[in-house]
Amino acid sequence: MSNTFGTVAVLGAGTMGAGIAQVCAQAGSKVVLQDITEEFVQKGLGRIRDFLQKGVEKGKVKAEDRDAVLARITTTTDRKAACRDVALVIEAVPEKLELKNGLFRELADVVSPQCVLASNTSSLSLAKVFAGVRGQERCIGMHFFNPVPLMALLELVRTDATSQATIDAVTAYGKQLGKEPILVKDSPGFASSRLGVCLGLEAIRMLESGVASAEDIDKAMVLGYGHPMGPLKLTDLVGLDVRLAIADYLKKELNHPGFEAPALMRRMVAEGKLGKKSGQGFYKH
Ligand code: CAA
Repeated sequence: MSNTFGTVAVLGAGTMGAGIAQVCAQAGSKVVLQDITEEFVQKGLGRIRDFLQKGVEKGKVKAEDRDAVLARITTTTDRKAACRDVALVIEAVPEKLELKNGLFRELADVVSPQCVLASNTSSLSLAKVFAGVRGQERCIGMHFFNPVPLMALLELVRTDATSQATIDAVTAYGKQLGKEPILVKDSPGFASSRLGVCLGLEAIRMLESGVASAEDIDKAMVLGYGHPMGPLKLTDLVGLDVRLAIADYLKKELNHPGFEAPALMRRMVAEGKLGKKSGQGFYKH
């Protein structure tokens, strides 16, 4: 199968990186999945294997497709080697500006001049993520949603420097991944996180002040507004730590009281109640 990017490096094998690697491989790309330790890489690969296996059990994925997808994914802990010969790099490392910026500065000299550089950041300024990186025209945000193989949206974020050719190529690839791309200007929280995080934080404030139980707050949005999942359950899915970091960032950037992180959220994160990944959040998992 031919597509816009035949070879892709995905940096970071966490929940998002693993999901992104999976959908790229499902679209026919050869994928190099990289993380800093062999343990992280294997955990990411295990996530992909489990998802595909469940797909087979549900009758959604053919066994031969599962095997073909897995065969298209190779893994490494060597970031530079992962990126040397690829057409697209998608970064999905933790949401720390210095980490992402340092990574792209390092890679810009390693990859080919045509290689598109994409960040999966959910809210950080892309201008800052790509600051000082050579070839700003090929830099773009590709924001995926969790669980990546099931969610239809791909939020593309352009900076003032992103070229139309880059936008066109990434839009075409997004469609090949089975996603519906939207195009958003580089601004704090883009379109999705700015709205989604605001709703999630307000739900936590309501729980904190005893307005209703977690179940009933979630039901209000699921049954009353047709959301597939309530805001508290969704915060569990995304991770309280991830959402707290976004909230703090958006509060600083937008200076809007709606982004003030509730004390309950900070306490839960400090106690390691991070949601689905830790087994306990607003719900037991
Ligand atoms: N392989 C293939 N298909 C699978 C599958 C698998 N392993 N697992 C599930 N599916 C399919 C199911 O068969 C089903 O398909 P049909 O609709 O054709 O029947 C579909 O996927 C939905 O699966 P389920 O019925 O098992 O689950 P569900 O209906 O409860 O939906 C969900 C699950 C898609 C996660 C839904 O609850 C949802 O949309 N939740 C909201 C998620 C969300 O908002 N995510 C965004 C988070 S914010 C973010 O990610 C951004 C950030 O930067 C932090």
